[in-house]
Amino acid sequence: MAKDDNGAEDVTAADSPGAQLATSAASTAVVTRDALVNPGFPPHRPRITDLDPKEERKAERTVYTLFYVSIVGSVFAIAAYMAFPIVAEDPGSVRLNNLFIGLGLTLALLAIGIGAVHWGKALMSDHEGVDERHPVRGTEPVRARAVEIFQQANEESGFGRRTLIRNSLIGALVVFPLPAVVLFRGLGPMDQDPVALLHETLWKKGVRLTMDPSGTPIKAADVTLGSSFHVIPEGLSEMGHGRLEEKAKAAVLLIRMDPSDLIEQEDRKSWSYDGIVAYSKICTHVGCPVALYEQQTHHLLCPCHQSQFDVENHCKVIFGPAKRALPQLPIAVDAEGYLIAQSDFTEPVGPSFWERA
Ligand code: FES
Repeated sequence: MAKDDNGAEDVTAADSPGAQLATSAASTAVVTRDALVNPGFPPHRPRITDLDPKEERKAERTVYTLFYVSIVGSVFAIAAYMAFPIVAEDPGSVRLNNLFIGLGLTLALLAIGIGAVHWGKALMSDHEGVDERHPVRGTEPVRARAVEIFQQANEESGFGRRTLIRNSLIGALVVFPLPAVVLFRGLGPMDQDPVALLHETLWKKGVRLTMDPSGTPIKAADVTLGSSFHVIPEGLSEMGHGRLEEKAKAAVLLIRMDPSDLIEQEDRKSWSYDGIVAYSKICTHVGCPVALYEQQTHHLLCPCHQSQFDVENHCKVIFGPAKRALPQLPIAVDAEGYLIAQSDFTEPVGPSFWERA
C-alpha cells in the first residue's frame, strides 16, 4: 500500500479486490479509495424530557392517562353493546349500535396507539445503536449479552420501574379484546340451538312456491324452458318479525330444464316436476346466495368464492371450496297448477359445518 504526497494511503492493485482485475494488465496501476465512508451516527441531541424532570413527569402522566382512556373506550364499547341492542327490522337500532360500539373501539385503539408512541418518543432511551448480523442462534456470550441488553432496555424504558404506566398498559391490553368476545357472542342465536334452527325452514307440505320479493304464486305452466326464478315460501313476504332470518334459510332457486338433461337418482325422481327443479339458494360453503345461473351449461355459480354446482346432477359441487351439494326442495303441483313443496328440505341448508356440530 502506497502513500501519496499528502500522506494519504492509496490502494494498489494488490490491495483492492476490484482492482485485482487490472493487475495483470498493468502491475503498476494505482486506484484511489472509492468506498463510502461510514459517516457514523449524528451527535445525540437530548430531548426536553431528558433535561427537565418536570417535563419527564408530565410525559409519564400523559402516557398512563392515555392507557386509562383506552380502558374507558373498551368499557364504553361493551356498555354500548348492551345499551343499544340491535332490534330486528329496525335499521335505526343497527345504526346506533354500530355508531357507539365503533366510537368505543376507536377510542380504545387510538389511545393505546398514541400512548405507546408517546412513551417511545418522549421517555424511552433514544440512543441509536448498531446490531451486527449474526447466526440465528448466538453463542453463549452473545446470548448472555442479549439478556443483558434486555435488562438494560427494561431499565431504560422504565417498564419495570414505571409501574403506573406498565400496569395501565397491561390493563388496557387485557380489557381491549373483551368487546370482541361480546360482539362474537352476538353473531349467534341467543337462546336456541343453531343446528336445530337450520334443520327447519318455512317450507312444509303444500306451501306454494312464490316469487321473491312479490310473493306471487308460480304456476308450473309459467316456468318456461331455460328460465330460473328466485323463490320464497308463500306467506313469507307478509311476515313481520323474523322475516329476514326465515328468508335467509328458505330462499330457493327454481329452474326449468329439459327433463332429458336431468340425471336423477331413483329415490329423487319424484322431487322434480316436468324438468322443474328447486334448490336451496344458500351456498354450502359459507352461506352466500348462489344466484348466478348459466343456462348453457346448467351450472350455478356462487360469486363469493366461485363454487360451482351442477344443476343437471342434483347440484353436486363441480368446482370451488363448497363441500356439499345444494339441498334440493321436493316439489309438486297442486290441483290449480301451482308449484308447491312436498315437504321441508331433508337436510340442513347453508354452510356444512352446522351439520357436523
Ligand atoms: S360462499 Fe359460496 S363459494 Fe364461498
